[in-house]
Amino acid sequence: MTILGIESSCDETAAAVYGPGGLRSNVIASQSIHELYGGVVPELASRAHQRTIWATVDQAISEAGCTIGDIEAVAVANGPGLMGALLVGLCFAKGFALRQGIPLIGVNHMDAHIYANFIDETPRYPFLGLVVSGGHTQIVLVEAPMQHTILGRTRDDAAGEAFDKIGKILGLPYPAGPVMDRLSQLGDPHFHRFPQALMNEGLDFSYSGLKTSALYHLQGIPDDEREEYLNDHLNDLCASISHAITEVLVKKLKRAFNQYPVDTIVLAGGVSANSMLRRKTEGLARRHDLKLHIPKIEYCTDNAAMIAVTGYIKAGLGQFDDMSLKPFASQNR
Ligand code: KG4
Ligand code: ZN
Repeated sequence: MTILGIESSCDETAAAVYGPGGLRSNVIASQSIHELYGGVVPELASRAHQRTIWATVDQAISEAGCTIGDIEAVAVANGPGLMGALLVGLCFAKGFALRQGIPLIGVNHMDAHIYANFIDETPRYPFLGLVVSGGHTQIVLVEAPMQHTILGRTRDDAAGEAFDKIGKILGLPYPAGPVMDRLSQLGDPHFHRFPQALMNEGLDFSYSGLKTSALYHLQGIPDDEREEYLNDHLNDLCASISHAITEVLVKKLKRAFNQYPVDTIVLAGGVSANSMLRRKTEGLARRHDLKLHIPKIEYCTDNAAMIAVTGYIKAGLGQFDDMSLKPFASQNR
């Protein structure tokens, strides 16, 4: 089946076409307006989706070298995400499916991050997924296509949220994750020891204490020395914070495969673009003889290729939806 995938859960309006031969197009319209506010403003995101969705879909279909009539099903992210933003993609997808008389497939955005690994590779089931994004941090056992069990999740902030919020404290622009990644490559990860929460407890995560600790650390520097301190040590602070965030992720992943023996692990979500996390996970996989899959950078952060490929897998399982498909804001529905 040739599937049109649509993604509008947060601040990227994206459309892609995936078919039996693989990915045929992948178009993303990013919303830069949120940089002004240091975070995503939901109403502005919805309005921007509304403005760009037609052009984005149109471009995806033409770059795939096909016409609207060649699309055989529409897959759309229907949650978790911002309600107004999701509604734009979902309403568009329903209208498209109705107009063309083709099936609709609702895709869970977090599941789609995992299946981004299937765009270029074919991970073997069962596998463990470390799914790390701006809104979620999860360890997921995937036993078969679309059969997922969440083994651990964050109790407060997500890993990407920690990067973004601590970056903001350090004066970095939004989203701070990629900037911290770049700066941390020039710094000393052992410059300061930031807390690594819940290290000896299960598979859940907690990052809000790290954020507070970073804030207190900076407040501990006298006002008239803070600017100079940041000038001298911004790279070291970024590296130390990245170290604290990624150590917990990798140790919990190790604990997970000790409890649920699998021979394959996958990384997913925006934070899987992080160079320190990728390096540490590669080391873990090598030491324990595990097969590791990490998506290409462009499939780590939000995109529609991951929605289209998940739609393709769901279509293969006969998992279609009808016009009663609803959006949901939170993974817990
Ligand atoms: O998956 P994603 O695009 O959106 C959500 O579903 O949330 O993830 C976005 C998150 C942001 O918090 C961003 O700062 C983070 O991923 N991120 C990174 C990197 N690239 C994106 N964090 C650390 N290092 C990176 N290279
Ligand atoms: Zn995402």
